[in-house]
Amino acid sequence: MAASTHPVALITGASSGIGAAIARDLGSRGYYLALAARRKDALETVARDIRTSGGGAVPLVCDVTKPESIAACVAHTREEFGRIDVLVNNAGVMHNGKIAGADVSEWRAMIDVNLTGLMLMTHAVLPHMQAAGSGHIINISSVAGKIITVGNGVYNVTKWGVNVFSEALRKEVYVDNIKVTVVCPGVVDTELLDKIANPEARANFKAFAAGLDPLTADDVAGAVAYALTAPSYVSINEVVLRPAKQER
Ligand SMILES: NC(=O)c1ccc[n+]([C@@H]2O[C@H](COP(=O)([O-])OP(=O)(O)OC[C@H]3O[C@@H](n4cnc5c(N)ncnc54)[C@H](OP(=O)(O)O)[C@@H]3O)[C@@H](O)[C@H]2O)c1
Repeated sequence: MAASTHPVALITGASSGIGAAIARDLGSRGYYLALAARRKDALETVARDIRTSGGGAVPLVCDVTKPESIAACVAHTREEFGRIDVLVNNAGVMHNGKIAGADVSEWRAMIDVNLTGLMLMTHAVLPHMQAAGSGHIINISSVAGKIITVGNGVYNVTKWGVNVFSEALRKEVYVDNIKVTVVCPGVVDTELLDKIANPEARANFKAFAAGLDPLTADDVAGAVAYALTAPSYVSINEVVLRPAKQER
């Protein structure tokens, strides 16, 4: 297909929560969207909503832990829309719990999705942005990437890793006219919390969140839009947003 006249964004984890909210928001701003995640039906619902409102969106089943799935997703996006102006690395999982006695498969899942998946997707998209001479990579991190809390150690590791990788990337690619933004939300009301594998850790975190008036996914989409709509000479490198009642 010929290159789209609309800006094009590839969003991982677009099937629910923050990723779906970013997709809907960017769709309303005229972006054409490649929506990547594992759940096909949920992706199709988001894509259909965006198309019904006059936008452009394709659902792409993609597992960011699998390099071949990432390669297919990037190739498909370029076939569909001709280019990738914005990459939003948002896919993530959170499995809280103390280090001693942890189910280490939960550690692997967090590292594979939150950190390695984000790095591999960036690696796959970067050459196309460099060839185009412009681009914007938005990495959804967390306040867990800025502070360390008991019972959240490996999630902290992944999000600190995202922040470190983002800053290293920024220093390498600003010369290519590619912006890098890391967005660090506090607690957001999404299904992420319901998927915490350890029942005790899940109950504790949900009780913590309930007392906070959490952010909505749309609040985070607003932070992404803030970074994307800055003038071309301004690079917003980090946005931190918390519920007003959240201390940590
Ligand atoms: N909710 C919070 O309090 C909060 C706070 C700070 C930061 N964050 C971060 O925000 C991001 C989005 O989370 P959310 O709160 O919106 O939760 P969510 O609704 O559970 O969204 C997570 C997304 O990641 C996708 N995903 C998970 N594993 C994947 C894989 N292997 N390959 C591709 N996609 C995968 C999920 O889609 P599929 O299951 O369909 O694959 C889903 O779309 C995460 O990086 C999270 O760490 C969340």
